[in-house]
Amino acid sequence: MQLTVIGTGYLGAVHAACMADLGHDVLGVDVDAAKIEKLAAGQTPFFEPGLPAVLARALASGNLRFSTSLEEAGAHGEVHFICVGTPQQAGSQAADMQFVDAVVDGLAPHLRPGSLVVGKSTVPVGTAARIVSRIAELTPPGSGVEVAWNPEFLREGFAVHDTMTPDRLVVGVQSEWAERQLRAVYAAALEAGTPWVKADLTTAELVKVSANAFLATKISFINAMAEICEEIGGDVHTLAEALGHDARIGRRFLSAGLGFGGGCLPKDIRAFSARAKELGLGQSVAFLDAVDEINLRCRDRVMSAARDLVGGTFTDRRVAVLGAAFKPNSDDVRDSPALHVARALIEAGADVRIHDPEATENARSILSAADYTTDVLKAVEGSDVVLHLTEWQDYRDLDPTALAGLTRTPRLLDARNALDVHRWRSAGWAVHTLGRPLV
Ligand code: UDX
Repeated sequence: MQLTVIGTGYLGAVHAACMADLGHDVLGVDVDAAKIEKLAAGQTPFFEPGLPAVLARALASGNLRFSTSLEEAGAHGEVHFICVGTPQQAGSQAADMQFVDAVVDGLAPHLRPGSLVVGKSTVPVGTAARIVSRIAELTPPGSGVEVAWNPEFLREGFAVHDTMTPDRLVVGVQSEWAERQLRAVYAAALEAGTPWVKADLTTAELVKVSANAFLATKISFINAMAEICEEIGGDVHTLAEALGHDARIGRRFLSAGLGFGGGCLPKDIRAFSARAKELGLGQSVAFLDAVDEINLRCRDRVMSAARDLVGGTFTDRRVAVLGAAFKPNSDDVRDSPALHVARALIEAGADVRIHDPEATENARSILSAADYTTDVLKAVEGSDVVLHLTEWQDYRDLDPTALAGLTRTPRLLDARNALDVHRWRSAGWAVHTLGRPLV
């Protein structure tokens, strides 16, 4: 099919490359000419495992081209996917819809009769209905253009896998024709048995925000238990394991630590709460404000545990920060808990050196006051405390005995509960973890 993918960020670039790899004729479109030039040359603008290979294959097949022109997009596509960002508005909890609105206004006058516009961006409930009216205003009567909603659940770091083999496909459609078009787009996944959930536009929008709200709630639930464990001397790690064996609860997304960040979960729960309040339904999701507060408290708890470890003050203390990305296997630093802590450490007077295998460049662009290194030994050298803030495999592979000798004092705060505490302690380290008793 002839598809366009508008917005080539973490979501759109992956979607465009994967759809082309599956055999569709795809035009990727973005307003950022530099990004489009890079993608067309086979370079990925961000770190995503597996994407360079898919992009190279798609370009070589001739199935994938890139452009900055919405006019070209209108001429090319029978199905158009909107994949632009919906970040948090400056000075408000609500989502900033300017990029989605600009795409709709720019694309609508160029749409071919009988084309389908499919929203993938995470949006406030009611956006699809608004787009339906806007397109009706901007296209000639009887043009047969329809709107559908097809939320995306891909995880950064596993984006290619999640796009090629999604665990479900959700489509909000207004007609059987629209559903048939989307079934044709996703024929390969359907053949492989992927569950297909057909919904109305509003429900499809709501699926995405409620999925992220649920995941965020699950993480904050275990982090609330971690706060209690710390006070009463329990062990949240064992607690999570025991809870996780109950199939109704499940162990996934029950890892206590520094909490969630990234471009989705934090802003999505805030936007959901803001939208619910606009609709007079604030009470129904009032718990999301508590979820957000628990999550932000994780960052304060790390600061206060680190301060205790270095003797009550950060003045003249060298802190090694392991991790800058919001999670491993990503170079994304949007609302990164690790960088949030690093900034707070600097403001408290610490001398901070940050290591990350992939995200130092992105981190430097938003926190220039820190020292960065891609050599983990340099980060640890001369430190008074090492903070493990993003659980890259690289850190689990470190040799604690070799590292101990490099520090001023071998002290570790494992804020992700991911390192082998016994191994580090036997190598001479004083180790503190969140949600477990101090030893
Ligand atoms: C998330 C959703 O998982 C995905 O379905 C949606 O499409 C986009 O938002 P992503 O932002 O890539 O994906 O990250 P995810 O893997 O969900 O992790 C979110 C955050 O939660 C990370 O900061 C991670 O470190 C944290 N997390 C995750 C925990 O703190 N504990 C856990 O047990 C799991």
